[in-house]
Amino acid sequence: MKETDPATLARVILTGRKYRHLDIPPETVIDLIQHGLDAGLRPEQAVDIAREKLHNIVAPYLGDPDYEKASREVGKFDAFSDDKPLRNFCLTMLESHASTRERIPYLSDFYWKIFTVTGVPRTILDLACAMHPFGIPWMGLPAGTRYQAYDLHRPRVELINHFFTAAGICGEAIYGDILLNPPAQPSDVGFFFKEAHRFEQRQKGCNRAFWQALNVRWLVVSLPASNLTGRFDLADRQRRLVSEILTGIGWPVTEILVGNELIFCLRKENV
Ligand SMILES: C[S@@+](CC[C@H](N)C(=O)[O-])C[C@H]1O[C@@H](n2cnc3c(N)ncnc32)[C@H](O)[C@@H]1O
Repeated sequence: MKETDPATLARVILTGRKYRHLDIPPETVIDLIQHGLDAGLRPEQAVDIAREKLHNIVAPYLGDPDYEKASREVGKFDAFSDDKPLRNFCLTMLESHASTRERIPYLSDFYWKIFTVTGVPRTILDLACAMHPFGIPWMGLPAGTRYQAYDLHRPRVELINHFFTAAGICGEAIYGDILLNPPAQPSDVGFFFKEAHRFEQRQKGCNRAFWQALNVRWLVVSLPASNLTGRFDLADRQRRLVSEILTGIGWPVTEILVGNELIFCLRKENV
């Protein structure tokens, strides 16, 4: 491969069948390729590694709803005047993705335990959200709580925005790469669930600067306590990862375990 321009190389991946319809931000793929080239890889190697990393970032194996069908259902506004159809719809959405599916048996407990530590927030950032905003009905948030959800997967972002409007939630879903552009919005709580270990796979050591850049009073990070098959206990590895990221930072940490999720509530001091 003669081409060495990362933007041109990125187009090969972005226009392929696998990613065309997802509209992944080009800067994400350019960044992955640029890191490969900076590490001395040949262009074709850098493209291969970028493909592997993008597969792990988008994680199609974790599941997706049928976005068009879900959007048609959201369009039936009347259904949401009653709490039960709203919750049923949200449960279907939570079930469609492995990260939220395994949280369903513990939903109310999950938020209650977190907010017991952080206090009930009035402003929330949901970082790398996937289908998690469909958990809002179980969060017990006061009316008017501002909810900002971030993801780089366009169909998810569009569906969540459609849902927020239909359900009268004071929120917005924002499309973009949060590692390259960390949200600057001040907030009571930032949720960063089940993604920090993938950030490390994308770029070793990147969590530290990302966590520091966030303008939140509490950063709530969760990681899986065992692997997807439930066979391997990952708790000690996850604690080591969080403590390495926080080396020398000194934010107080409160740890909670709910189901298969190890939750670290980090009290940031710079806000
Ligand atoms: C494992 S899922 C997260 C699940 C969700 N936080 C939860 O626990 O229910 C990963 C999600 O993060 C998104 N994502 C990964 N890297 C991202 C980035 N740098 N910026 C924005 N979104 C990202 C992916 O598109 C995907 O929807």
